Amino acid sequence: MRRSAVRELLKLTLRPDLISFAGGLPAPELFPVEALAEAARVVLRDRPGAALQYGETEGVGELRDWIAARHSTSSRPLTRENVLIASGAQQGLDLIGRIFLNSGDRVAVQNPTYLALLSAWRPLGVDFVPFYPGNAESDDPAPSWGLRGARFAYVLPEFRNPTGESLTLRERRRFLEDLAASDALAVEDDPYGDLRYSGDELPSLFELEAREFGGEERILRTGTFSKILAPGLRVGWVLAAAPVIDRLTLAKQALDLHTSTMSQHLVLELVRRGVLEGQRERLRGAYRERRDAMLAALEERLPSTVTWTRPEGGMFVFVTLPEGCDTSALLPVAVRHGVAFVPGGEFHVDGTGRNTMRLNFTHAAPERIREGVRRLAEALAEAGVSRER
Ligand SMILES: Cc1ncc(COP(=O)(O)O)c(C=O)c1O
Repeated sequence: MRRSAVRELLKLTLRPDLISFAGGLPAPELFPVEALAEAARVVLRDRPGAALQYGETEGVGELRDWIAARHSTSSRPLTRENVLIASGAQQGLDLIGRIFLNSGDRVAVQNPTYLALLSAWRPLGVDFVPFYPGNAESDDPAPSWGLRGARFAYVLPEFRNPTGESLTLRERRRFLEDLAASDALAVEDDPYGDLRYSGDELPSLFELEAREFGGEERILRTGTFSKILAPGLRVGWVLAAAPVIDRLTLAKQALDLHTSTMSQHLVLELVRRGVLEGQRERLRGAYRERRDAMLAALEERLPSTVTWTRPEGGMFVFVTLPEGCDTSALLPVAVRHGVAFVPGGEFHVDGTGRNTMRLNFTHAAPERIREGVRRLAEALAEAGVSRER
């Protein structure tokens, strides 16, 4: 195991004068506090026995039904047998690793990818191999994913942590073709799909597989209530074929018996009251404004030698400095100027990306974002990142 640099950084950025773009945090002032308080009152009045008692490892049946119905399509109808409630999507990913992976297995990942997935699966002794290097290096708009020899693939199709990028429809189809031609299984991790601010929705890999690549079910899918409701509830889920859910349930039983019954009943009460939908729309509006504030400030302040992604949703913008710059060395300079980010090298599995950084745009209000980018530009100037190409 390695200490997570992001966790260590989060501690450092608790200073109130510091503007942190480092954590992957939702905006705390937008948590549905009133609705949660009302839901807690109702749950404790009407169902105290169920909400405070030990529960089934698979999760609360009605919540599993709701998740199954929400993700069912005509080509992939789901029931509660296809749903395991986990203590966050993070636990779902951890369980999947425990069930499917052995030491020495090759796991194909996008590069850069979600740091805590690497932390969860690295102790299993797997080798992470990056998928194809990316469209920038190829004229083919959907190049082969290079899955040969991989046991498993981990894919973030929507607003990937850390880059904010999504897969195009062609890339999704090409991935599924390559998966079908390989012996690998895949997990599609989608915590951010509901947070779309612009552009058109695309079908998930889970759905597309059933619709166009019928028969074999090689894709598992993880999701969460963390990004729309609140991460402190720790309620996420895994969708998969029933026998896979059964095995994951056995593994979960040994870990924590079940996910908090109180949290699950709170979430259930909120979804029954339609709070989830309202909250999603509220967050989309607020976060769209924050994303736009960050993109405009970057455009205004950063040198022309610096580039960044323009995400249609999620929580992150990914910034690339000129070749040879080192964002780990830049971080203490930035902190001195009162702003923090996550150096991008951490998210890469092949030692590249030292000149990149991840910026979160959901936690700070728009005026703080503008001020934070101004400070970042000062830090870049002090570090000698040149203005002209
Ligand atoms: C890509 C990705 N997967 C999973 C998670 C974990 O989410 P949860 O809070 O449901 O454990 C996160 C949280 O930041 C994430 O960014």
